[in-house]
Amino acid sequence: MPIAERPVQSPLSAEVQAIVRCLSCDSRLDSDQYGGFLCPACKRVYPNSRGIAHFVDEQHYAASFGFQWQRYQQTQLDHDEHRESERHFLEKSALRPDDLTGKLVLDAGCGAGRFAEVATRWGARVVGVDLSTAAEVAARNLADRDFIAFQADVFALPFAPESFDVIYSIGVLQHTPDCEAALKALDKYLKPGGLLVVWLYSGYNNWYRFSDIWRRCTLKMKPETLHGLLKVAVPLSYNLQQGLKRLPLAGHRAANLVYHLFPINRQKDHEARMLDTFDWYSAKYQSKHTYEQVFRWYESMSMEDMRVGEVPVAVRGRKPLRGS
Ligand SMILES: C[S@@+](CC[C@H](N)C(=O)[O-])C[C@H]1O[C@@H](n2cnc3c(N)ncnc32)[C@H](O)[C@@H]1O
Repeated sequence: MPIAERPVQSPLSAEVQAIVRCLSCDSRLDSDQYGGFLCPACKRVYPNSRGIAHFVDEQHYAASFGFQWQRYQQTQLDHDEHRESERHFLEKSALRPDDLTGKLVLDAGCGAGRFAEVATRWGARVVGVDLSTAAEVAARNLADRDFIAFQADVFALPFAPESFDVIYSIGVLQHTPDCEAALKALDKYLKPGGLLVVWLYSGYNNWYRFSDIWRRCTLKMKPETLHGLLKVAVPLSYNLQQGLKRLPLAGHRAANLVYHLFPINRQKDHEARMLDTFDWYSAKYQSKHTYEQVFRWYESMSMEDMRVGEVPVAVRGRKPLRGS
């Protein structure tokens, strides 16, 4: 391609170029002319396809997430009249715009990019990684932002140690085979003085007990089959609960019974309800955690200045400065 026709490198892509590393030999990577990367030392290639560089060959256990985010690409993205994801981000990350403005941030498990959308709006430069093809969706959704997405695994990230000012991971690590190990894997990429923020499913609830029984069946289904089933079951259960609530006397109790027997997400928006219910019943791994547990993990990483968010279990901590 003649030089004049080559896309101009954004400041973020130059910054990412400086921190991206080979998974095999840790060498700095060269970008190739197609938007992928090549290791000059061991010659390993990380191809660009469908708009992003791929640091994994397949989605592994996260294929249901790939299906989900390809199907519901923009359902949770904020727009002018709707700032639901920003509200969730504030509650689940305990971050404020000042924590992110001007910072290089890693969104670990970015999904379709709803929180990266908020972070870039607050002035952060964000690198999003996701094990599933959701990373492609995020790249498309945030094409006009200071954002770069890679398909990559939090257990083997292609970055130099101490690359990021802030790392957040919201609703992700409980979907890995080992939540504690995943959190501790992220610590390596955080600069001293940087913030590590996580939100995990709460171990304090008990409404999901019945869903664990249903999950034994739903996890055996193909994503397409489960989605087809939920397209019928979710409106049925939701409308039944709404109808029961209108009945005098025991109406609310009956609605709650239906909810406990077949837990579904109860947001007003039908698409959001479908998306979150599908997510709940399809994710292969789904662990739940307590503050005690997560604080222990943070303490074992010597994190300081620990805070909790508004919605359990949300924890943030600061990596100590060297010598402090
Ligand atoms: C429930 S979604 C949350 C997405 C996003 N954080 C949000 O809240 O919209 C969980 C995401 O974690 C990703 N994920 C699971 N295991 C991962 C891993 N080992 N490395 C990177 N991403 C992973 C899934 O592919 C999925 O997109």
